[in-house]
Amino acid sequence: MLVLNKFKYVVLCGCIFASVSAGFAADVKIKTETKPNAETKAIIETKTTTDKQPQQKDAIQSTAQNVCAACHGADGNSAITLNPKLAGQHPEYLLKQLTQFKTGVRVNAVMNGIAATLTTEEMQGLSKLYAEQTLTLGKAKKNGVGSLGESIYRGGIAATQVPACASCHGANGAGIPKQFPRLSGQHADYTYEQLKKFRTEERANAPMMTQIASKMTEVQMQAVADYMQGLK
Ligand code: HEC
Ligand code: HEC
Repeated sequence: MLVLNKFKYVVLCGCIFASVSAGFAADVKIKTETKPNAETKAIIETKTTTDKQPQQKDAIQSTAQNVCAACHGADGNSAITLNPKLAGQHPEYLLKQLTQFKTGVRVNAVMNGIAATLTTEEMQGLSKLYAEQTLTLGKAKKNGVGSLGESIYRGGIAATQVPACASCHGANGAGIPKQFPRLSGQHADYTYEQLKKFRTEERANAPMMTQIASKMTEVQMQAVADYMQGLK
C-alpha cells in the first residue's frame, strides 16, 4: 500500500512537471515567433531622416542606379519579368521586404546578399525613392473582362473558400497601406512565382498569403496573375 502511494506521488509529480514544462515550451515558442515581427515593426515605425540630409539622398540615388537598377530598372520598372517592379509600391511594404531579406525571414539568395549590405537608413531611403517613382502599367495577355482571372480577383473562389483578392488589395489593385501591397501592373511571371512560393512556404513571411495560395491551382494562379498585370 505504501509503495503504491509513493508510486502515485511520483506519477503525479511527473505529470505536473510535464505540464509545467510543456507550458513553458509553448511560451518560449510564441516569444520567438513574434520577435521578428516586433523588430520589423520597430524599424518600419522609425521616422525616415533622408529629407534633411541631401548628401545621404545622393548616396541613396547612386546605390539605386549602381546596384538596384540592373535588375529593377532605372525607374523601378524592371524589364525582366521575374524581377518585381518596385515603382509606386507602398514604402512601408518595401521596407518590410528589405528588412526581412536582411534578417533572412524572406529567402532569396540574390536579395538576401544585397540587403545584408544595406543599413536601416539606406533601406528607408531606397523604399521612399521607389515609392515615389511612377509605375508603368501593363496589359493582360488573356485575362481581361469576364475572364477566370477577373472572377478570382473580384469574387474569390467559392469552392475552396479563397477570399476575393480585391478585399485586401483593393478594387483597382492599388493595395491598402500599410499592410496590403499594390499588385496592379506587376509582372505576371513574378506574381505567379510568388504565389507558388507562398504555397510551398519558400516565402514564409505572410501567413495570410500562404493560406490563400495553398487553396489555389496553378491554372488559377496563372489566370489571376495575368489579370493583375493589366489591372489599373
Ligand atoms: C541581381 C538582380 C537584383 C538586384 C541587383 C536587386 N534585386 Fe531586388 N529583387 C530581385 C529579385 C529576383 C526579387 C524577387 C525575389 C523573390 O522571388 O522573392 C527581388 C525583390 C525585391 C524586393 C521585393 C519586392 C516585392 O514586391 O516584394 C525589393 C523591395 C527589392 N528587391 C529591392 C531591391 C533594392 C532596393 C535593390 C538595390 C539595393 C535590389 N533590389 C537589387 C533581384 C534583384
Ligand atoms: C486577407 C487579406 C489578403 C487577401 C484576401 C489576399 N492577400 Fe495577397 N497579400 C496580403 C498581405 C498581407 C500581403 C503582404 C505580404 C508581406 O508583407 O510580405 C500580400 C501579398 C501578396 C503578394 C506579394 C506581392 C509582392 O509584391 O511580392 C501577392 C502576389 C498577392 N498578395 C496576391 C494575392 C492574390 C492573387 C489574392 C487573391 C487570390 C490575394 N493576394 C488575396 C493579404 C491578402
